[in-house]
Amino acid sequence: MKIWLDGELVDESQAKISVFDHGLLYGDGVFEGLRFYNRRIFRLEEHIRRLFDSAKAIVLEIPWTQEEICEFTRETVRANALDDGYVRLVVTRGSGELGLNPYLCPKPSMFIIASTIKLYPEEKYREGMALATCATRRPAPAALMPQVKSLNYLNNIMAKVEAIQAGALEGIMLNEQGYVAECTGDNVFVIRDGKMITPPVSDGALDGITRQVILELAPSLGIEVTEKSVTRYDLFTADEVFLTGSAAEVIPASSLDRRTIGSGSMGPWTEKFIAAFRELTRTTGTPVD
Ligand SMILES: Cc1ncc(COP(=O)(O)O)c(C=O)c1O
Repeated sequence: MKIWLDGELVDESQAKISVFDHGLLYGDGVFEGLRFYNRRIFRLEEHIRRLFDSAKAIVLEIPWTQEEICEFTRETVRANALDDGYVRLVVTRGSGELGLNPYLCPKPSMFIIASTIKLYPEEKYREGMALATCATRRPAPAALMPQVKSLNYLNNIMAKVEAIQAGALEGIMLNEQGYVAECTGDNVFVIRDGKMITPPVSDGALDGITRQVILELAPSLGIEVTEKSVTRYDLFTADEVFLTGSAAEVIPASSLDRRTIGSGSMGPWTEKFIAAFRELTRTTGTPVD
């Protein structure tokens, strides 16, 4: 596998980061995860834009332009001769002295991995997935801005552990007020009586690119969607719940905390969204070649 690292494509065995990199020492950095389908990178510009927004919010100056990073991403996919797959793009604060001070790290590091990812078993995309509510909360926006896709994922990882220990594959994370924020690595949509709601970003969700795609698709599919606070009660009593993420794509939820959601299987609206999403991924995106 070829990895893009700080300006060059190197063999996986040569792709190394310093133990003094603050990305490793303190989780000081930002990242993106995006997919490519049929040699076209889905929503590439949006992901790179979010990367720059995340970096700006944490005072991390990326020494390349957005256009250059789009180009490096295409180059990395080409170098790995994959038609379909997943890109992980990471910008770290770079090497510096021990101690938190990011101003002592002269140069950020960036690497791009083009590989594959499989988050959930195939049958869950038809049958739906069990969810569990996690005890670990999303950090308050004043603690860690939820829009920033940073290298601080420990909250989400602990929440994921709780979900798995409860026998579920994904967990619902609440914010400090007890409202649903999102899942550990996906956004959440709730449908009842032909209307759809999703938590606003201000309730602690990442401003997901796939979430945005669903918001765009909703009118053309003939369903009204509102960004408003969501409670566990809304999920328990929903007709349908589905999750969205670049890695997860669009996947139905069948239960929450062992309470069946709707029919307990994929609902008709979810099926429509999955079909429309797949159509978009098949027919749009930035060509790799
Ligand atoms: C915490 C969290 N929420 C939501 C998402 C989904 O966002 P996107 O659709 O941009 O991949 C992700 C994906 O990386 C995530 O890590």
